[in-house]
Amino acid sequence: MDREAALALCRGKTRKETTLRHLISVEGVMRALARRFGEDEDLWGLTGLFHDLDQDVTGEDGVGHAEVAAGWLREAGVDERVINGVLAHAFPEYRTDRMSRAIVHADAVAGLLVAAALVRPERASGMKVSSVRKKLKERAFAPGVNREEILGVEEGIGLPLEEFLAVAIEGLQAVAPEIGL
Ligand SMILES: [Fe+2]
Repeated sequence: MDREAALALCRGKTRKETTLRHLISVEGVMRALARRFGEDEDLWGLTGLFHDLDQDVTGEDGVGHAEVAAGWLREAGVDERVINGVLAHAFPEYRTDRMSRAIVHADAVAGLLVAAALVRPERASGMKVSSVRKKLKERAFAPGVNREEILGVEEGIGLPLEEFLAVAIEGLQAVAPEIGL
């Protein structure tokens, strides 16, 4: 599935603009991580783009989250590796390879980066690792962001935290114009 078709599917399945922007931000981070590891950028990007596809349907209680999305994606003929990655962000038993572990860290860091960008006049542009580290320590800032999923990145995918943040910032910046950042 090419990116245009993937985005059209996201637009069709999401109801909130914030959900769509979140999907694109995680896509950006996943693409940058794939580049860093010499992996398949499109496959990793699709996993980011689709990971919360059913967010606006499954709602706050989270029942069926990721499983509903997996069903839609299967119907649409999306690569099983992407579907596994989507399931992996919600269910640890699917975290079977680097991509399916990376989505957990990408999801969390994208949340932090978007929140950090929103409080800067220049948004994502010129964002520094050091300032993101500060926001990471400031637990009252974006309290919904799971810090452990960011801090565990080296254990998860073998990337030191500093480098992960740098790669993630670059990934967010690549999609920033699309999401108003
Ligand atoms: Fe997410």
